[in-house]
Amino acid sequence: MHPIEALKALERDAVDAIDSASDSDRLEDVRVEYLGRKDGRISAILRGLGAMDPTERPAVGQEANRVKDVVSTRLQGRLDDLTTADSGSAVDLTLPGRERWRGGWHPITRVVDEIWSIFRELGFTRARGPEADTEWYNFEALNTPLDHPAADEQDTLYLVDSVLLRSHTSPVQMRTMEAYEPPIRIIAPGWVYRRDTYDATHTPAFQQIEGLVVDEGITFVDFKATLAEFARRFWGPGTRIRFRPSFFPFTEPSAEVDVKRVIARPDGTSFETDWIEIMGSGMVDPNVIENAGYDSERYRGFAFGMGPGRIAMLKYGVTDLRAFFDNDVRFLSQFAS
Ligand code: PHE
Repeated sequence: MHPIEALKALERDAVDAIDSASDSDRLEDVRVEYLGRKDGRISAILRGLGAMDPTERPAVGQEANRVKDVVSTRLQGRLDDLTTADSGSAVDLTLPGRERWRGGWHPITRVVDEIWSIFRELGFTRARGPEADTEWYNFEALNTPLDHPAADEQDTLYLVDSVLLRSHTSPVQMRTMEAYEPPIRIIAPGWVYRRDTYDATHTPAFQQIEGLVVDEGITFVDFKATLAEFARRFWGPGTRIRFRPSFFPFTEPSAEVDVKRVIARPDGTSFETDWIEIMGSGMVDPNVIENAGYDSERYRGFAFGMGPGRIAMLKYGVTDLRAFFDNDVRFLSQFAS
């Protein structure tokens, strides 16, 4: 057989042998058989070059080198395939795993749940009302005439005539009193809406938590004691509470509630914070009790409303309310547990 034809036949045999080699040991045998320096089949042909017609030598030499390249490239490719498949070495088992995204409750939701669970222990139930409500429930039933500044269209988001997005959770007071008979002890968390510019301390949509107690024989003492107990359970036993005279159309008397917290230092000493305003409150105005269809001679009550967003800012040391609305996972994941 002419050496060029012999080389072509050898190439076909080598390719078959490489492709059918089932592991890297078998592949090494193939490499030695064809490319081995001493006894390899290509070397044997090259050794015969000296005895060849000088005019044929260059062509045979060139063909031998081409076949050598083809065989060694194919060997390497097959070796890569075999090692990837049988040892799985394409996967680095020492690489640290990718951590799964872990969800968490929104910090404001956490505060709402914490506040709610304290009042639940104090005997309250949970109530809710519609976010789109009427002027009657949002204002008039709550002893707030429509010409009162709070009812101004500048501050309130109206949907259609006399229907609006509630500007506070207080309409739930009236809706609850209409639906149930005393004794009433409810907590009503929910969204409220005002025409506010979005900045570090305001958002046009925010959450409030309403509280209402109505029963026979409820006094100012029940009111103060309940809120003081709440404050101590939420902020700790040393917390002080102060009632500052205020005004709301639906409570009489009305009070802003402030707390002064005791913060422990790592060295065992502690210090008191400034007074922090946490809610509006008061004894339910007899007109509101009457609007609910109750006898205001027989029933008394107290009500309060607080902003869990503000309380969450204080609790977690957040200085810009917008952080709660941007929903940046890097911010929110700090509250996950
Ligand atoms: N609704 C009042 C507000 O939004 C808070 C409040 C609730 C005050 C209940 C008194 C009683 O500011």
